[in-house]
Amino acid sequence: MAAASRDAPPAPVRRLDYRPPAFLVDAIDLRFDLDPERTRVIASFTFRRNPAAGADPIAPLALDGEQQHDVAVALDGVALPAERYRLTERTLVVVDPPERGELTVSSTIHPAANVALEGLYVSSGVFCTQCEAEGFRRITYFPDRPDVLSVYTVTLVADRERYPVLLSNGNRVGAGDAGNGRHFVRWHDPFPKPSYLFALVAGNLAALTDSFTTASGRRVALEIWSTPANLDRCGHAMRSLKRAMRWDEERFGREYDLDTFMIFCADDFNMGAMENKGLNIFNSRLVLARPDTATDDDYLAIEGVVGHEYFHNWSGNRVTCRDWFQLSLKEGLTVFRDQEFSSDMNSRAVERIAAVTFLRSAQFAEDAGPMAHPVRPDEYIEINNFYTTTVYEKGAEVIRMQHALLSPERFRDGIDLYFARHDGEAVTCDDFVQALQDASGVDLGQFRRWYSQAGTPIVRARGTPPTPGQPHKEPFHIPLATGLLDAAGADLPLTLEGEPGPGPTTRVLSLTERRASFVFTGIGARPVPSLNRGFSAPVRMETDCTDADLAFLAANDSDPVNRWEAAQRIYCASVFAAMQAAAAGAPLPDDPAIGGLIAGIVADERADPALRALAINPPDFAYLAGLASTIDVDAMVAAREHVVRSVARAGRDALLRCYESLRVQEPHAPTPAQVGARLLANRCLRYLCALDDPAAIALATAQFDAADNMTDAIAALVAVNHTASPSREALFARFEARWRDEPLVLDKWFALQATAMRADTLARVRSLLGHPRFNARNPNRIRSLVASFALANWPAFHSTDGEGYAFVAEQTIALDRVNPQVAAVLAGAFNQWRRHAQPRRSLQERALERIGDTPGLSPDVAEIVARNLAGYQ
Ligand code: BES
Ligand code: ZN
Repeated sequence: MAAASRDAPPAPVRRLDYRPPAFLVDAIDLRFDLDPERTRVIASFTFRRNPAAGADPIAPLALDGEQQHDVAVALDGVALPAERYRLTERTLVVVDPPERGELTVSSTIHPAANVALEGLYVSSGVFCTQCEAEGFRRITYFPDRPDVLSVYTVTLVADRERYPVLLSNGNRVGAGDAGNGRHFVRWHDPFPKPSYLFALVAGNLAALTDSFTTASGRRVALEIWSTPANLDRCGHAMRSLKRAMRWDEERFGREYDLDTFMIFCADDFNMGAMENKGLNIFNSRLVLARPDTATDDDYLAIEGVVGHEYFHNWSGNRVTCRDWFQLSLKEGLTVFRDQEFSSDMNSRAVERIAAVTFLRSAQFAEDAGPMAHPVRPDEYIEINNFYTTTVYEKGAEVIRMQHALLSPERFRDGIDLYFARHDGEAVTCDDFVQALQDASGVDLGQFRRWYSQAGTPIVRARGTPPTPGQPHKEPFHIPLATGLLDAAGADLPLTLEGEPGPGPTTRVLSLTERRASFVFTGIGARPVPSLNRGFSAPVRMETDCTDADLAFLAANDSDPVNRWEAAQRIYCASVFAAMQAAAAGAPLPDDPAIGGLIAGIVADERADPALRALAINPPDFAYLAGLASTIDVDAMVAAREHVVRSVARAGRDALLRCYESLRVQEPHAPTPAQVGARLLANRCLRYLCALDDPAAIALATAQFDAADNMTDAIAALVAVNHTASPSREALFARFEARWRDEPLVLDKWFALQATAMRADTLARVRSLLGHPRFNARNPNRIRSLVASFALANWPAFHSTDGEGYAFVAEQTIALDRVNPQVAAVLAGAFNQWRRHAQPRRSLQERALERIGDTPGLSPDVAEIVARNLAGYQ
């Protein structure tokens, strides 16, 4: 068996093994002599034994450190002889340390060779850092854990000409000449913070500047730093930042606390963005936007992520995590906060539907596979693998449910208590729930199971399916927002037995047992139930709604999320009917109902265009796969295609009329009205082009020619992407010629080709790896070309000859030597392998084994492979 030759993955870290740190570090002074080839780092910090460590009074002073050279150690200013410390691959242990003292560790690192992009690295000639979760240990030796909070003073020394701008956390407190053409700048951050929030940036940069006056009247300087050529694309991020600062004051009473708030925009960045105190570092794709280079989706994502990282200043930085098992404490809460921000800035219903779609496609799948874990995981091998949709998106749902159970007012009281009680501390998810409970008086005892128990509950049917290591499930506390519609489509008042009427029209029912029944009084004829309104709980709903009920809800429900949901259920049912026929080798049935429904929605000019666009969106493959018992890719692809084409045929006139009536005439602005109109018009265009009709392709070409904005230009490419028309090649070639020197724009072009449902896609992707602008070390390029193919192109990745799997395995292995964190994302493409029908199941298993048999695999990729191949079924 191949497994025998596989390296055993490193031992897991377990939540219940948590021990407080043996030593605390109150203050650290860092000096960097910056040079891409050899940067000298001198760290001096005051340590003292932790009075709260308790049990182990002789625990050594152990520091984490990796990939450093020429290490020298001094204690209280005196060089430490070699027998007084032990240096291993990953630690520095001071033997027999005093109760308190000052330790100075000097070491040398090589930023230009840092291609993993964790720690200090160089991106487009600029030094920058990424320390969360465990990158600080690649910079210096330190207790690199989130429960050691220190005050940082940082001195940066660098060549004045090449690196005129030197940034770090906090406030700028000094600057001057350092001789030899070098200069220095000193920064001081008065707020104690864990090492994962440390950041530095050094380079030839320019800033877009502005200012913000806080509610209590303090003036904060705002700076967005980028290469000078990109300054004209920073305006939207700046406007988003100011909106976020105002919103956090108004909605949560949270003010900013330093004199300066800076954002740096990096071309090479593994994640989206990072909340380092006072100096956020962003992937450039989440900062830079101009109407001709960024789509409406990009504008919305930038607003949301700028908000998210800013909101971490309280939910994450002022109050941080005790250990990485508590990651959802900051991430789930901050996603909830950024979702609320986006909902207040844009359309609440549209935001909610987008969040629900993502949760059900990505997180439900995660919860049903080998990576299933609770919102607060119990163990991990590589923490980088646990920045998951469960920790983030389900974590946000868990916050949202508490918001629903407490009411907005009492939730706010709870959050206020949480921040007041724990400001300056590193705490747990339990501490958070306790604060909500103490402030509100609502018993959240049973509710805590949402943090400890993995899996997606099913409301109304059997229960929660097992996940690894958790075969038995206890009932969750589920808040189910419910309404009842009368025959005219109006909401009925919901009065529970024994209550004086009339009750509210939407009630949050608390489910706490395996079975519950609620009896409403005064209901005459059979009402149509609208359950889980607003998607109040992240559950799978199984109801006995008839087709007629669903059509009725799609037309009448006062809750926009459930109107959309009803239309989606009708759509899914139609695809499933076709899928069954396809799997049986029968001719695919025609379903006139779905065509009529979609045409009706498209033609309903009184309704919000954005909501109409969402309602007619075909369900994606990930969601459909989650509804199937076994995944038959061929049947699923054929069925979805069949239904989309039949909708296009049946709705043609309505789609065309809608497209023509909605074309935006004014110059581009990212306003909700324009965004909604473009969304629906472009959705119609896509249906029209689904039939390979030359007249429709001509519309797309005309739109491409006329577009003054990236949304419409990309939508034209999307519409022709899967067609066999020669216009496709022509449009793609023109796009490339126009944008080949704009990497972020070219990423869209790479991604579209990688997701094309065409027979030649894999060959195309392979040849694009050799495109002069592709760079196998840049995470954005890899995501757009390779990860889009692996994770978003079901027909090509799952092609029956196994070539797609072989390609992704090969790319994962090659990338793992460069950037393990991103390589692990690619390996995750196989996470659903056990749910597939043959031959894909075995083909994917073989691809995983091939990755697993590679010598010297990173813990990141090794963990994904090991979980996939473990015995669990
Ligand atoms: N703290 C994270 C960034 C991070 C993630 C650092 C993983 C190290 C490892 C940041 O706040 C974050 O969550 N960023 C998200 C975007 C956000 C809007 C959900 C990201 O980078 O994808
Ligand atoms: Zn975050």
